[in-house]
Amino acid sequence: MSTQKIALITGANKGIGLETARQLAQKNITVLIGARDEAKGEEAIAELRKEGFEARAIAIDVTKSESIRKAAAQVEKEFGHLDILVNNAGVMLDDEDRKVSEQSLDVWRDTFGTNFFGLIETTQAFLPLLRKSDAGRIVNLSSILGSITLHAKPGSPIYDSKTTAAYSVSKSAVNAYTVQLARELKDTKVKVNAAHPGWVKTDMGGEGASMEVSEGAKTGVALATLVADGPSGTYQHMGKDLPW
Ligand SMILES: NC(=O)c1ccc[n+]([C@@H]2O[C@H](COP(=O)([O-])OP(=O)(O)OC[C@H]3O[C@@H](n4cnc5c(N)ncnc54)[C@H](OP(=O)(O)O)[C@@H]3O)[C@@H](O)[C@H]2O)c1
Repeated sequence: MSTQKIALITGANKGIGLETARQLAQKNITVLIGARDEAKGEEAIAELRKEGFEARAIAIDVTKSESIRKAAAQVEKEFGHLDILVNNAGVMLDDEDRKVSEQSLDVWRDTFGTNFFGLIETTQAFLPLLRKSDAGRIVNLSSILGSITLHAKPGSPIYDSKTTAAYSVSKSAVNAYTVQLARELKDTKVKVNAAHPGWVKTDMGGEGASMEVSEGAKTGVALATLVADGPSGTYQHMGKDLPW
């Protein structure tokens, strides 16, 4: 097996995903830019190439089984294994003018379709390839808004942040899945962790966000490149554990 590490980042055509790809490429890792829109994937590749990085595009829409299956088959054919899967693709669809109790079922379903079921299906499709790695790493992009502990605690930084309930609960589910999967993988070389990137200036985070995207990718990159005795089944921001 080649010593060159291979990483797939979903939703890597922009935002934290693209920056994660850039920072992994800086570490001499071969990055596969997952994008649901192939043209956007190619634009991202062109941007990275201009900066001197080698990258490849992979079409993957995490809400479409056939697309996930094809992407996994392509990686298997070309590389035979995968070292790093960054489950970054995500949506925030809540109508923030609606109360928690009035958020539409369509919003709940579509949010979970991408953020939760899409993440699970992608993980299932690529796990056989990650198991073939000497150091498989799965990073699930969560959010501090997925912390049930902080949501329930009066005075916490997110206690009053209840305008994106579908998004927040989908990330709580991602956290729970991370713990379940980590237990299964305990005696393997595959680690799985959840990352809160921070509040980051992207299309999702908005201009008012407190962190630049270069900082926002750091937590995921660190978890994607954990050493052999590093943790698994954790929920972290910038090297520190967050309350579940
Ligand atoms: N920004 C923040 O402050 C913040 C905070 C906490 C957590 N996060 C999490 O970090 C991750 C990245 O967020 P971001 O801020 O970079 O968001 P973003 O700029 O909106 O980018 C989201 C990415 O996900 C892709 N995507 C959406 N649905 C997809 C699907 N069905 N299949 C494949 N790709 C899909 C988008 O593709 P298109 O371009 O085609 O739409 C885009 O590439 C998300 O999981 C988010 O929840 C972000």
